[in-house]
Amino acid sequence: MKSRGEPITVLTCYDYLFARILEEEGVDMLLVGDSLGQVVMGYDSTLPVTLDDMIHHSRAVRRGAPRTFTVVDLPFLSYQASTERAIESAGRVMKETGAHGVKLEGADDQTCRTIRRLVQAGIPVMGHLGFVPQSVHALGGTRVQGRDAQGADRLESEAEALQEAGCFSIVLELVTGSVARRISEGLEVPTIGIGAGPGCDGQVLVLPDALGLNPGFNPRFLKRFADLAEASRRGVRDYISQVKERAYPGPEHTFGEEG
Ligand code: KIV
Repeated sequence: MKSRGEPITVLTCYDYLFARILEEEGVDMLLVGDSLGQVVMGYDSTLPVTLDDMIHHSRAVRRGAPRTFTVVDLPFLSYQASTERAIESAGRVMKETGAHGVKLEGADDQTCRTIRRLVQAGIPVMGHLGFVPQSVHALGGTRVQGRDAQGADRLESEAEALQEAGCFSIVLELVTGSVARRISEGLEVPTIGIGAGPGCDGQVLVLPDALGLNPGFNPRFLKRFADLAEASRRGVRDYISQVKERAYPGPEHTFGEEG
């Protein structure tokens, strides 16, 4: 798709019913992101998410979208401590969910060694650069990366290191548009941007944010493609009032003797 110049569409997904919708509508790739920590589990970061949480949700997604290329995030501390630990974690994801690959964050030497071993073991790996949420505290908060020349150069060399280590694709999160474009043009593998502008080879959004289920979250890069929060509130209000008024269930919702 990159060589054809066709933008790659990616959405995060965490459950069976949305996975079915995303597959039926033809999204190119699903990401079971550890953003599930915030948008599904209500934590204030991705740090508390466990490997078991990721596997549980990924299995549901795979049942809903059995034909769509699906990548699963390795959560915080399931791969950083050692390459062996990373192989065990990624191996569990691949065996227990049927996913097609894993994603991990960063590009330091240890991470690149780990990526090489995972790829050698037959596990496709997606990288993730820029703002890397598992390092939110080390980065001093949610910040756009690559704004100064030194940061931009570092991102560029990290992207090259990830490609060289064997990543099939790289997420660029909260990176200035010009730096993301330059990185994308310099790589053979596709970049997938979130808050990184139109110069990436594809785009990813967190599904509940994209569908308007998370109204308090308003970063500049986010566009809401639906207003599910309002639609849901309206539906719940109607249900409550119709039950209270005995308007629901009606005769058409009630079983008779005849079957
Ligand atoms: O966890 C996630 O949803 C992600 C995307 C923001 C790329 O990593």
